[in-house]
Amino acid sequence: MTTYITTPIYYVNAMPHLGHAYTSIVTDAYSRYRRLCGDEVRFQTGTDEHGEKIFQAAEQEGVSPKEYADRISAAFRQTWPLLGVRPDHFIRTTDPEHIKTVQDILQQVHDRGDIYFSEYSGLYCRGCERFLTAKELVDGNCPDHQQPPTAIAEQNYFFRMSKYQDWLIDHIRNNPEFITPERYRNEVLAFLKAPLEDLCISRPTSRLTWGIPLPFDDKFVTYVWFDALINYLTGIGYPDGPDFDRYWAAAEHVIAKDILKPHAIYWPTMLRAMGLPPYRRLHVHGYWNVDETKMSKSIGNVVRPGELVEQYGVDTVRYFVLREMSFGLDASFSGRALVARRNSDLANDLGNLFSRSLTMIDKYADGIVPEPDAGTMTDADRELIANVERMVGEYRQAMDGFGFNRALQEIWQVIGRLNRFIVTNAPWELARDPAQKGRLMTMLFLLAEGLRLITLVLQPFMPETAAKMAAALGLETELETASLEKAGRWGQMVPGHRISPGAQLFPRLDKKNNQPPQPQQKQKKKEKEAAAEEGLVDFDQFGKLDLRVAEVVAAEKIKKSAKLLKLTLKAPEERTVVAGIGKHYQPEELIGRQVLIVANLKPVKLMGVTSHGMVLAAKEIDADGNEQLVLSTVAGAIAPGSKVA
Ligand code: MSP
Repeated sequence: MTTYITTPIYYVNAMPHLGHAYTSIVTDAYSRYRRLCGDEVRFQTGTDEHGEKIFQAAEQEGVSPKEYADRISAAFRQTWPLLGVRPDHFIRTTDPEHIKTVQDILQQVHDRGDIYFSEYSGLYCRGCERFLTAKELVDGNCPDHQQPPTAIAEQNYFFRMSKYQDWLIDHIRNNPEFITPERYRNEVLAFLKAPLEDLCISRPTSRLTWGIPLPFDDKFVTYVWFDALINYLTGIGYPDGPDFDRYWAAAEHVIAKDILKPHAIYWPTMLRAMGLPPYRRLHVHGYWNVDETKMSKSIGNVVRPGELVEQYGVDTVRYFVLREMSFGLDASFSGRALVARRNSDLANDLGNLFSRSLTMIDKYADGIVPEPDAGTMTDADRELIANVERMVGEYRQAMDGFGFNRALQEIWQVIGRLNRFIVTNAPWELARDPAQKGRLMTMLFLLAEGLRLITLVLQPFMPETAAKMAAALGLETELETASLEKAGRWGQMVPGHRISPGAQLFPRLDKKNNQPPQPQQKQKKKEKEAAAEEGLVDFDQFGKLDLRVAEVVAAEKIKKSAKLLKLTLKAPEERTVVAGIGKHYQPEELIGRQVLIVANLKPVKLMGVTSHGMVLAAKEIDADGNEQLVLSTVAGAIAPGSKVA
């Protein structure tokens, strides 16, 4: 199969923000998914560089429109790799091939009689770069740009859009997938209930020169939308490129609801007038808002994707936007929500499952994916397998229909289940009983196979993480060439290959101040310093103490000292320890007692006797300042030398 998928071409009057990034990430995730399904994919993005907005923005900066467009177009092009977005083609409407194709199409449609010259007056919104109908205004303003449109009356060229209204209504009705989600299909059908006006497709050069000249009248340039939409054809070699027909038959566009009308009404009718079939599907998403308001340059509330990636890492950003936004509805951006998702979904659920599983394969199966012992499979195992297989099916269905957050929910449901599978099977207990070896190996195999499938389905969402997971599971080459059809089935993991544990997928972030993830070394050092300040020791520090049970075999007073006793201890070897307990214990009452010692202190000389360790005791000072001291011990008899942990 072939997939041809596009983002809108972004205006070069503003630097890329999270709203643009979302569309591109979604399109990238879908492209990667289709590749995983074995499709040949063509993914196109680019920049829209003509029109009044760009001309004005360039003027404000005091540079030529082309210079200005070059700069911002480059910023878009450079942003995509930072987000793991990998288009196959980046188109600019100032590309000479595009200009030529637009002129050829205009001439063709003009020759067919679908372009005519006439007088027009209307309300023009510069933000939208289109005429608005009175019905679209809210309190006299454009609802998207919160500014009143300008009344314009002039002579222009018009495209006979009205001629194709009935055809368009039929096409939308007969093809439920043509515009999705359904709410936008309904919106377009509702709009088409009123008679469609013809589309003004030119601007007089007396008012605007920054555009593609009309081939049949050089006193006019092409209206920016008529120019821009055609990018979807020029990018794949219209009219006679070798792959054009194949790609065009598979065309899918991704947009946000702000540009629904040009894509759902102008574009299919333009294609019809050109004698081309309409695109296959139009996918419409909602807005990223900040505090209920659309994120946009004009409002000045933008979040820069590059900064987010620097702070949180590319896959956290991709995961967050794809998980948080339900495709078609608006979503709110907050840094706190992003950190919360990273810590709970990524670090806790996925990260822990992954590192625990690999550590256990390393420890209990010598780092080799073990052969399962079929005889030890339980009904619960079979249910788990069925659940994972069901997930892959649901995932595919969700991805085909642009339900990215649903697909992720399905994957996380399995991640949760595998985490519970570890707890209920307690492999650390199985490992203690040699008779359970077969069961332990079965369980480790199930984990490895579950992780393989999770890696596969996560790849379109988090390519970097999936690559790390695949490398740790020893499946790099498999992932690069995998197709869901085969690799998406349970039981494809080949036992016997080596895994490499130790990869930390998502180091935790500090919730309080949204600190960026530090390189691991620095993070550790910082954590240690902070803990030391609070008087805390970490587990490593505690683990360095050699605490043991010891038996007192001999005890005597040290001359000239009221406090110190010389003890001979068995722990299990004999050693001398000097203890400051002389005021509280008589030597003879100590013989045969079990005490606790720190066995690995550096030897020290006290009153001429070298002490090899320290005896532990609890000390209490009462209100009068009297000291009470009681030796620490264990609650039952245990061999001298036993470790205290
Ligand atoms: N140049 C036109 C598109 C021509 S396509 C033939 C244009 N450009 S734009 O730079 O304004 O980009 C609009 C698109 O950017 C939206 O349709 C959407 O894909 C994305 N977004 C911009 N702001 C957004 C949000 N706040 N939220 C979600 N997507 C947003 O329109």
